[in-house]
Amino acid sequence: MEETVQTRLIRAEEKGAIDEALEVLRGGGLLAFPTETVYGLGARLFDPRALERLFSVKGRPRGRPFILHLAEKSMVFEVAASVPEVATRLMEAFWPGPLTLVLPARPEVPMAVRGGGETVGVRIPAHPVALELIGSLGEPLPAPSANLTGRPSPTTADHVLRDLGGKIELVLDAGPTGIGVESTVLDLSGGRPRILRAGAVAWEDLRPFLPDLEPGGEEGPSFTFRKEVLVFSGQGKELVESVAREYDAAKARGRRPLILALGEHAGEYGEREKVVWASFDRLHEAARNLFALLRELEEGEWDLFLFEPVEEKGLGRAVMSRLRRAARGAR
Ligand code: TXA
Ligand code: MG
Repeated sequence: MEETVQTRLIRAEEKGAIDEALEVLRGGGLLAFPTETVYGLGARLFDPRALERLFSVKGRPRGRPFILHLAEKSMVFEVAASVPEVATRLMEAFWPGPLTLVLPARPEVPMAVRGGGETVGVRIPAHPVALELIGSLGEPLPAPSANLTGRPSPTTADHVLRDLGGKIELVLDAGPTGIGVESTVLDLSGGRPRILRAGAVAWEDLRPFLPDLEPGGEEGPSFTFRKEVLVFSGQGKELVESVAREYDAAKARGRRPLILALGEHAGEYGEREKVVWASFDRLHEAARNLFALLRELEEGEWDLFLFEPVEEKGLGRAVMSRLRRAARGAR
């Protein structure tokens, strides 16, 4: 069992906040910090005990590598053995930002960070607090998302506390994160470039750099979701009809269903209980709120969630992949 520790929460803009964060890391502690996607949980790169704690506090399976967060492009050469030309062009185009590049690792990178393999994932987060922190630390910062394994990634400091309160030393709170889904993970370590995780940078935006790249990474591990989630397909009138039919049947069985409607259709469900979770023209908002929504739904009184889908293109791929993970993990 992990020892209980006192988890402090400080606002990132408070005077001395970054110094406190550095002190925690240098003392072997774990620190949750904001990025533009979700909150990360940082430990020092060359501190084997702190890296070990990253696995134990999250309940994370060994062999799952951590992303190294950098403050500037030159840091890549500290951890990557080689950087292909296309990686340099992608860094120019997308960094700082939510694109993680998997590259051949230098031998110094600890095995725990590499997941036992020969590669390392790197990105520069587009968040002033993360950049100041990593810049002042002066070394790459390994950090998984700051949630318990199997839970949606945290988009607020409160989510971090709910999952990891009493297990980590410090949370740097900078309010809700802007993007709300994790970075896209792109394997450029040799062989054919592949998307390992669909994320905030869309396949459509990567294709101009890699004409043979296929969409991918939309599976991912299931969430352990305590409520039943159904994700519908189709569109328009047929979609509305099948959702309504399922709702009525569930009601008749004594269930408490809730419809997660698109803004465009919400008016068509009459008296049935519904909330709008996304709209065609406001996909970014849906992504930003998705993980907070899932956490709220899990706590609420409904026991069945009927989701209308967004289109599987652009950011919609990442959003739909997270929804399906919740649907698969439901019991
Ligand atoms: O947006 C994000 O990516 C957030 C923020 C904190 O940066 N981080 C994040 O980390 O989501 P994590 O550990 O929860 O997910 C990282 C994913 C995992 O699926 C991991 O297997 C993959 O990236 N990954 C990291 N390094 C890798 C490597 N060297 N080879 C293959 N996959 C890698
Ligand atoms: Mg994660």
